[in-house]
Amino acid sequence: MSINSEKDLEGLRKAGRVVARCLQHMQSKLEPGITTAELDAIGGQYLALHGARSAPQLTYNFPGFTCISVNEEAAHGIPGAKIIKAGDLVNIDVSAELDGCFADTGGSAIVPPESKLHLQICAAAKKALENALLEARAGAKLNRIGYAIETEATRNGFTVIENLGSHGVGRALHEEPGFITGYYDKQDRRILRENQVITIEPFISSGAREVFENGDGWTLITNPGVFTAQYEHTLVITKANLSS
Ligand code: CO
Ligand code: CO
Repeated sequence: MSINSEKDLEGLRKAGRVVARCLQHMQSKLEPGITTAELDAIGGQYLALHGARSAPQLTYNFPGFTCISVNEEAAHGIPGAKIIKAGDLVNIDVSAELDGCFADTGGSAIVPPESKLHLQICAAAKKALENALLEARAGAKLNRIGYAIETEATRNGFTVIENLGSHGVGRALHEEPGFITGYYDKQDRRILRENQVITIEPFISSGAREVFENGDGWTLITNPGVFTAQYEHTLVITKANLSS
């Protein structure tokens, strides 16, 4: 989507606010003993209460309102009977449509006690997102996003999941300019345009470079013992970034 009016921007802001608050609300309920289905129901109720519809359900017929991925699951985890335990690394991804606008957010959280490795991956993924956000401005090469993410991952001794990444969003969950890698792709000649709406979502891993589907049709996993953290924002590309 490209923002062409105040109305477009307001619509996207509203959708963005709902998914961000839904994520916070779900994270506040994250504790040992809750199942991922219970957590998802809390998210689904929140979206419905605010007039929003789950984007993965609407777009892909995903069997849940939100994606909840635990430990070696990196993305697209199906909510179900799995019980959250102390020490789990839990990623919640919330995307929704509100009055024709789609916004997408996500975040990893650690259920205490927090292991050093989980803390380190989460910190690196957060920093990677921050750094990539600073690169994202009109006229910049789109591959600066992947460059920023990969640099931060490598600096911390971690890897980037190469078959997961950021994307265009706004009128649909996934739209132009298409897939945006989390690594530096020097062949990518695309330029970020003013008013373009995209997500930035680094997937930083303690060793994997790829996820594979676990056989349930959705859940994307790495090998056991490998962990991945993701943080995601939906943003509008402007001429000046936050640092200038
Ligand atoms: Co997402
Ligand atoms: Co996304």
